[in-house]
Amino acid sequence: MREALMDAMQALFSRRSIRTYTSEAVSAAAIEEMLEAAMSAPSAGNQQPWHFVVVTERKLLDRIPEFHPHSLMCREARLAVLVCGDPSLEKHAGYWSQDCAAATENLLVAVHAKGLGGVWVGVYPREERVVGFRKLLDIPEHVIPFAVVPIGHPAEQKPPRPDRYNKARIHKNRW
Ligand SMILES: Cc1cc2nc3c(=O)[nH]c(=O)nc-3n(C[C@H](O)[C@H](O)[C@H](O)COP(=O)(O)O)c2cc1C
Repeated sequence: MREALMDAMQALFSRRSIRTYTSEAVSAAAIEEMLEAAMSAPSAGNQQPWHFVVVTERKLLDRIPEFHPHSLMCREARLAVLVCGDPSLEKHAGYWSQDCAAATENLLVAVHAKGLGGVWVGVYPREERVVGFRKLLDIPEHVIPFAVVPIGHPAEQKPPRPDRYNKARIHKNRW
């Protein structure tokens, strides 16, 4: 258990956004395991109000930057996972975006733990990006594209663990 705990801390401290990728394929088994990690995230009342669109078609990946200005890396990625929220699945109204954020972070850490690279690319609440994904991927109106994570084998290395520990943001007992 202690060993498992250390592994998790190491993954959290060394994860970085990776935006360039090699052409090497990502196995179906790796994709499935990363999605399993995403769906292991906590959610309000365990409502799990998410869907995941796994985009592997080059034609589709290439079109994402047409409506999302900070997503050029999709043109190099082997796949991208679009995390979507479905408020109709909520038991506790209003929490879907927090649940999807937890799933997105789990996915990112799993990508890193498997030796792959990925980056959280924000979609919601930017309306043009939400609409762009709905049109591109035939997503129903009641489902909200939340974030997209382009994934591939890393073609860049980044120093691990930028020091973001900030004592000034910690408040003990009272502000
Ligand atoms: C809500 C959110 C939206 C983001 N959107 C983008 C994006 O559109 N494009 C991008 O390249 N990176 C995006 N990022 C990644 C951040 O730029 C990155 O996490 C941050 O600079 C810290 O670097 P690190 O992930 O390497 O620690 C986003 C991250 C979050 C959490």
